[in-house]
Order: sequence, then structure tokens, then C-alpha cells
Amino acid sequence: MIIVIANSKGGVGKSTLAVHLAAWLHDQGHRVALADCDTQQSSSEWIREAVPGVKAVRLDNPNMILDELPVLALDVDFVVADGPGSQTETSRALLLRADLAIVPCKASMLEVRALAKATDVLRQAQDIRAGKPKAVIVLSMVGKNYRLTKDMKDAAAALNLPMASVPLILRQIYADAPGQGAVVGRMASRGREAATEVDQLFREILPDAYAAKSLKPKASRR
Ligand SMILES: Nc1ncnc2c1ncn2[C@@H]1O[C@H](COP(=O)(O)OP(=O)(O)O)[C@@H](O)[C@H]1O
Ligand SMILES: [Mg+2]
Repeated sequence: MIIVIANSKGGVGKSTLAVHLAAWLHDQGHRVALADCDTQQSSSEWIREAVPGVKAVRLDNPNMILDELPVLALDVDFVVADGPGSQTETSRALLLRADLAIVPCKASMLEVRALAKATDVLRQAQDIRAGKPKAVIVLSMVGKNYRLTKDMKDAAAALNLPMASVPLILRQIYADAPGQGAVVGRMASRGREAATEVDQLFREILPDAYAAKSLKPKASRR
């Protein structure tokens, strides 16, 4: 399965989400590759330090993505592709190959409105591919006491994209994680709350990936 983290805006939490998703899937016992498709290449360096068991690959142009993403997917259970902040053709190539698009979005009315533009390429891909890739919005960098306003719910609903019920809260630990070459789940007790929310989010979005693990220790079921 190829999962792309897509939003043509920069600084919305794509790389943070991509690295944490790759680490989470690895922790569920899956074989995972992270395809770093941003020219800044920060997520491939981060995942190499944080979870060496995840294969990190740089695919930084549209032709490489179209040609090599499916080949990469043959070797692993999940490819997580970290998308770029601007290059439209790179995003297009990713969305033409992905099975699922996760679209992080900051929780403000302006950002949700901007999503209509930022998801143009997603809609084109879905149109060409009879609805694929499936897509889901994840609210990121959300204030702790934040409430989703009706305006925002309406704006998101108008895009015809489902929204995950678990948001990622704005927490210093997410910003500290790359500098420490770690993911929040590996940052001891400081990371506990963040690790819990990341786990809840990915269980919601990818229930099958989680279930695959819970089937293994049969003795602990019931
Ligand atoms: N939930 C969060 N809480 C606090 N800081 C965050 C959170 N998510 C991302 N950040 C920080 O915000 C900045 C942009 O995030 P990043 O994942 O690099 O976005 P993108 O890949 O979309 O450009 C980075 O400095 C990152 O550490
Ligand atoms: Mg990034």
C-alpha cells in the first residue's frame, strides 16, 4: 500500500506526520519504506536516525516517482511518501500512484479554505482514477483547547473529504523530535501524550494495519 502525505502548502506538518506514520507501521510489525519526495530531504534523514529499520529512499522528481514508487512497493508492506510543499508535478505523480492520501491541515478557517486550492491536484487524480486515491484530512498543530467551529466543519465538508476525529495537538515535543533524531514514541515519558494521540490517529485511519498486529499475540486476546 502506498500512502502519500499531501498538502501543497509548506509547514503544515507533512514531514512530521510521514515520519511518525512510518515509525508506527514499523512498530506494528510491517515492512516499511519512507519515500522522501521533498527536495529538502529532511524526513529521510530523520527516519534514518529515529527508526533505522525503515528503509529511507529519496525520490525527488516526478519521473522517478512514477517509475520507482511501484517497484519500491513490491519490497515492503507500506510505502509512506512525504510530499513536497510546492512542486505540483511531484505531487501529481504521487497522487497518481498512491492508494491513500493523508492531508494534514492546520486548524484555522484560513487554512481550511486554502485546502480547496491545495487539493486541486488530488481531485484531478481522483477524477482520472475513478475515485482513487482515498483521502482523509488530519488537523495538525491544533491548540489544546481548540474546538472545531461550525464554519470549519462546513468548509471541510464542502471539500467532500472525510476528516479524522483525532487531531495532532500543537506540542513542543513534535518540534523537538527531529533535532533529537527520534519520534515521540521513543522520547520516554515526555512523549507519552503525543505518542498516545499518534497511535489513536493511525489506528483510526488504518485499522487494518493495526489489527494485523493485535492478531499476533493470540494468548493476549479475549
Ligand atoms: N503537532 C505539532 N506541534 C508542534 N510543532 C509541530 C507539530 N507538527 C509539526 N511541527 C513543527 O512545525 C514545522 C513544520 O512541520 P513539518 O512537519 O516540517 O511540515 P511540512 O513537512 O508540511 O513542511 C516543523 O518545525 C515541525 O517540527
Ligand atoms: Mg516537509
